[in-house]
Formats: sequence, C-alpha cells, structure tokens
Amino acid sequence: MLGRVNHIAIAVPDLAAAVALYRDTLGAIVSPPQVLPEHGVTVVFIELPNTKIELLEPLDAASPIAAFLAKNPSGGMHHICYEVADIMAARDRLLSTGARLLGDGTPKTGAHGKPVLFLHPKDFLGTLIELEQI
Ligand code: CO
Repeated sequence: MLGRVNHIAIAVPDLAAAVALYRDTLGAIVSPPQVLPEHGVTVVFIELPNTKIELLEPLDAASPIAAFLAKNPSGGMHHICYEVADIMAARDRLLSTGARLLGDGTPKTGAHGKPVLFLHPKDFLGTLIELEQI
C-alpha cells in the first residue's frame, strides 16, 4: 500500500527563522510560503534529491501545530507522509483493521493539491502518518 516517502514535516515556532536556517546555514532550496487555512498552517517545502522536508508554522492559537509547539517549544518532527496510489482504497483497508483516522475520515486537499488523510499516532507507534494520493 505504501509508496515513497513524499515528505517529512517539522513544526517550527518561527517560519522565517527556519527558512533562513535551511536556506543559509544548510544551503537548501526552499519554496515560497503557502498558507493553508484548512490545515491551520503556513508551509514551505525544502526540495531534496530523494524527498522533501515540510516546515509548518501555526496560523493561530487554534492550529493543531500550536498545540504541538506548546509541548515542543523549539519545534520538532511532526509527521511523515507516505504516497499511496488510491487513498480511498487505503482508507477502507485501514478502517477494516480498526485503525483510527483523524477527522471524519474524508480526505482533505493537501499542500500539493492532492487528497490527504492523517492516521492516529496512537495506532502507529506514536508517529503521526499522512497519506497522500499521487
Ligand atoms: Co505533510
């Protein structure tokens, strides 16, 4: 069911400082910021030869990323995103095993304009997993 790692996401308290760190200190190519109100974040992508890193900054205090940063004030790894060919087939398979999805189980549109789902970290080794249909 799982394909490539599409991206690894890091929650950050200060996106401009995080962009400068990746661009200037680490010498990476960083995309322009994108505001995603449906997900409560502003996001940039760092393009690497084999995958992407997603830097997430909360839009406001109601953002799920704000809650994460309250527990991890200097930032931290937030989720890993795997590619799937058919997100509805993946969802049905997961639900049939009793795995929990975040939200109502309806795919949302992710940062790349593709459908995404999030899987409950308590069912996946303490790791938040995003599935993105490619
Ligand atoms: Co993501």
